Amino acid sequence: MNLGTTIIKGRRSVRSYRDTEIPEEAIRDALECARQAPTAMNAQPWLIGVIREKETLARIAALTDHGKFIGDARICFAIFGEKKAVYYLEDCSCATMNLILGLWAYGVGSCWVAGDKKPYAGAVRELLGVPESHTLVSLVPAGFPAEMAAPQKKDMRSISFSERFVPR
Ligand SMILES: Cc1cc2nc3c(=O)[nH]c(=O)nc-3n(C[C@H](O)[C@H](O)[C@H](O)COP(=O)(O)O)c2cc1C
Repeated sequence: MNLGTTIIKGRRSVRSYRDTEIPEEAIRDALECARQAPTAMNAQPWLIGVIREKETLARIAALTDHGKFIGDARICFAIFGEKKAVYYLEDCSCATMNLILGLWAYGVGSCWVAGDKKPYAGAVRELLGVPESHTLVSLVPAGFPAEMAAPQKKDMRSISFSERFVPR
């Protein structure tokens, strides 16, 4: 048993939230986890919006296709990448995952909602007043879980190989 890997393995996407306040310490610490994520050439090409206002949460939710539950979340993080950084998508994905795991370490559930490649990315950026130099990579609504599903994962044998891949 290892606490770190138990937290990582126990995470699942949470799309239904209790109306319980999230401690500021958890929010700050999770943001700190995001800030510590690795980036190509240490560019740290991100800007992370922290949205708590109900009306803004509802407006973001309405813009998305598969993120309507953002409107029921206590908080939503919006991760933007600086387009001039070649690896902004990978960098901001690392930050998003660190943020999600940081929240989960406090028992706060969240769900990655797509931003990059989505037609609403520009509208979310404009709504939050973020300059055109940045583009939306992900939205992370969060709250203490009301419900949690546990989607099946592929088995280890089908997703890994040792030394050299041998087709089955
Ligand atoms: C890049 C990315 C985009 C995603 N976009 C959405 C989304 O728009 N809406 C949603 O409900 N879940 C979204 N998810 C969450 C996935 O559906 C979820 O991770 C997957 O079903 C596996 O479940 P788990 O996270 O509980 O392990 C996204 C996840 C990733 C990594």
